[in-house]
Amino acid sequence: MTRYEQLANTMAAQIRSGSLAVGARMPSLRQIIAQHGVSQSTVFRAYYLLEEWGLIRAQERSGYYVARGAAVARDSARPPVKTPAEPAKVDISNLVFSVLEAAKHPDIVPLGSAFPSPMLFPLQRLAKSLGQSARFVNPWNTVADLPPGNETLRSQIALRYLGMGIAQPIDEIVVTNGALEALNLCLMAVTRPGDVVAIESPGFYAALQAIERLDLRACEIPVDPRTGLDLDALAHTLQIYPVRACWLMTNFQNPTGVTLSIEKKKVLVELLARHDVPLIEDDVYGELHFDADYPLPARAFDKRGMVMHCSSFSKTLAPGYRVGWVAAGKFADKVQKLKLMTTLSSSIPAQAGLADYLQHGGYDRHLRKLRSALIAQLADMDAAIRRWMPAGVKWSRPEGGYFIWLEFPDPIDAMELHRLAIEHGISVAPGPMFSAARAFANCVRLNFGHPWNAKIDDALRVLGQLVRRTVSPAQR
Ligand SMILES: Cc1ncc(COP(=O)(O)O)c(C=O)c1O
Repeated sequence: MTRYEQLANTMAAQIRSGSLAVGARMPSLRQIIAQHGVSQSTVFRAYYLLEEWGLIRAQERSGYYVARGAAVARDSARPPVKTPAEPAKVDISNLVFSVLEAAKHPDIVPLGSAFPSPMLFPLQRLAKSLGQSARFVNPWNTVADLPPGNETLRSQIALRYLGMGIAQPIDEIVVTNGALEALNLCLMAVTRPGDVVAIESPGFYAALQAIERLDLRACEIPVDPRTGLDLDALAHTLQIYPVRACWLMTNFQNPTGVTLSIEKKKVLVELLARHDVPLIEDDVYGELHFDADYPLPARAFDKRGMVMHCSSFSKTLAPGYRVGWVAAGKFADKVQKLKLMTTLSSSIPAQAGLADYLQHGGYDRHLRKLRSALIAQLADMDAAIRRWMPAGVKWSRPEGGYFIWLEFPDPIDAMELHRLAIEHGISVAPGPMFSAARAFANCVRLNFGHPWNAKIDDALRVLGQLVRRTVSPAQR
């Protein structure tokens, strides 16, 4: 259990026992920090959780109060595990392409986008590194930087693992064209057509598309926006079906934003190792953590080389450079050969430019600034949802990244909402994009990766109106 979950449970017990009475003001931030020795963000998260459990409510500019319905509010018990869905073929690409295409126009308010604002990136400093490395390029690098990739870049990446306490062998790191190529190569390395792959539901649509393209079958494992992947359901699936690989996100999951606790990550790695199933871990948002430290990925607990940890610079620094990597464990050689057979190499100037930037450009300073901007933007998004969305909407409180997951009361149709929103110049990512079964029709993913302004706030106001238009009168 995380610190904030522990704190929330302690306070929930106080509320349930009546020592914090209905209507009473919750203790101030300062009191809790002094009493429990926790950080400000831990208190906020604990309060968000208590709010989600229906135990407290926020009063604007005044603080939190014990909610009237607290006595009967639901507790944190999880629903019972259902029988896992059968592995199924996937047919999602056309839906994904049509949603992405509709949202491409630069005038559209990009609430459905998968990228943060490019204005948050150090474009000039990066250009300097790119120029510098191009001026002093060794012509022989065209050969030397072929897969596994530029050695300086790979050693800089290995250093970042070391910063997390992970001794990552540099020869297991393969540079790729963004994380997406890394993920696809990993999937190709460990599966054959017809194989079963365990994925998250809701989960990143590119996993669904890769499964569709490689003629695999998907087993969707439920993800709770608050606690993450349902490990009991995964264990059950592993017992019943011949799962060949598992593809998932352990940090700031796309689309819910949820992060698995350290305990759950350890259990996940052990569970998969027991079944001899490799894990393809997508960690593209890991560097965008709002707490002080990078939340350790599942890779940190892998002793057998079974976790292929994929990431990139696309979400943190340089989306257009298309440089990512995989720390591929015992599959490194296979992944490297597949890379050579498919795209041969990643761009050599882009690799050299990033290597220079990582050595001299102040990446950590930039990341600190980027994280503060995202924290402020999340607060703005949170306030705008409270201001403009209808009662009954639930939303996630991510601890990093830039996605927020909204769940509307039935019977909202997110595809219809997406269509209406595009007509009003706003994009959203509708829930059905994130599941093979096209479920989550009452959910949307919103992006808070853009500096807040009146246009975005107004887009939320319009979205709130559109949601009300699609809700039956009895539920307004
Ligand atoms: C969860 C997730 N993984 C991977 C990617 C692809 O990353 P890259 O642009 O580095 O290929 C994205 C991009 O949207 C993503 O959201």
